[in-house]
Amino acid sequence: MSSTPSSQQKINSSNHVTAGTLRINEKSYFDKLKAKHKNVQSKITDISKTYYCQTGILTPFDLFEHALYIILHLSNEGETAVIDACRQLPKLKSSLIQSNPNCRLETTLGIGYSKTREWLARANIPFPKSFIEFQRKEGPTGKTMPSTGGDLLLHIRSNRKDLCFEIGRRFYQSIPDTCIAQLDDTFGYAYMSSKTNGLSQDFIGFEDGNENPNGNEQRAKAALIGKEEDEMIHVGGSFALTQKWKDNLIKWNGIPQDEQEAVVGRTKGEDSKKIRPKQRTSHVARTDLKENGVDIKVVRQSLPYGDLKEHGLFFISYASDTKKHEKQLDSMVGMDDNIYDRIMDFSTPITGNYWFIPSLNVLEKIFQ
Ligand code: HEM
Repeated sequence: MSSTPSSQQKINSSNHVTAGTLRINEKSYFDKLKAKHKNVQSKITDISKTYYCQTGILTPFDLFEHALYIILHLSNEGETAVIDACRQLPKLKSSLIQSNPNCRLETTLGIGYSKTREWLARANIPFPKSFIEFQRKEGPTGKTMPSTGGDLLLHIRSNRKDLCFEIGRRFYQSIPDTCIAQLDDTFGYAYMSSKTNGLSQDFIGFEDGNENPNGNEQRAKAALIGKEEDEMIHVGGSFALTQKWKDNLIKWNGIPQDEQEAVVGRTKGEDSKKIRPKQRTSHVARTDLKENGVDIKVVRQSLPYGDLKEHGLFFISYASDTKKHEKQLDSMVGMDDNIYDRIMDFSTPITGNYWFIPSLNVLEKIFQ
């Protein structure tokens, strides 16, 4: 969250870390990755400075096998302690990284709708143009998505579960109990990762993230607020959607593979391909959308979560504009055309919220 006087100039700079820097597509993927990891943490910090964004948004998720998603609902008490905990977060992260050489650890902080209004107004910062509050969705199809709110999101990513826990614990315990009305914490973990591209599968047995924008430039375009979209202070900021989906794997595993592939809209396996022509009920057809002829792109960072009884996908994705997520969710519940995403026959969203993800500039101003 630290700033330099030349940070805004850096946004305009074309000297970006190149697309291939962090992605390796070879058989011995994990060995190569291990060797490269020595420098990964500093490269990630470079990306963040280049785009003036929080570090966890753009980095490919195959570098992080673990995540912890912390959602806090705040009470109306002791806000100073909450702000202090957020202010201390970069220091906390640095000290853990220093005492655990070669680890990778990223934190991204998001703010819910009403706290964004309050905290930005107090710091005299304009409200981000495209930020809207997450409303419960109910399509004409009968498919629904709940809105469960939240004031603070801490998205922690690491190659080590213990570090996710440790930073999460220290952050959480630095806030007095009286300030917290509710805690929702969920560990995510990579599942059956591909040996060739490192992508985790969902529990439904498909690689997740194939169609994520590739390379920093494309990812930044999809996920970060740009100069043309909002005030300069918001450039490098983002908007996140979180939804915890609960899978019914008994039902899912009861249908044949060709039907599963039709539901997702892709073939299963390492060389997964999109199925053409698209079936209008498939997940890919419901989410691969265009706005005025231009592809809607977001950066998904979801991971599976859960235990034997309750499990599914912790969906999290970052977008330059909240309307992108809104359009995708409306399409999934069939808001406009009465056709829903068939993935909803096998998995159900049990939480949902939109988050404002401040740029480094904004973070510094609200927590100074
Ligand atoms: C249970 C929940 C979900 C599961 C299991 C799931 C799984 C998948 C899978 C397997 C793919 C194909 C591979 C890939 O490109 O990553 C995919 C693609 C995609 N998903 Fe999801 N997804 C879920 C929820 C969502 C939600 C809530 C959204 C958006 C709000 C979303 C947006 C997308 C997008 C944009 C793509 C890429 C489509 C394309 O360009 O081909 N997904 N998802």
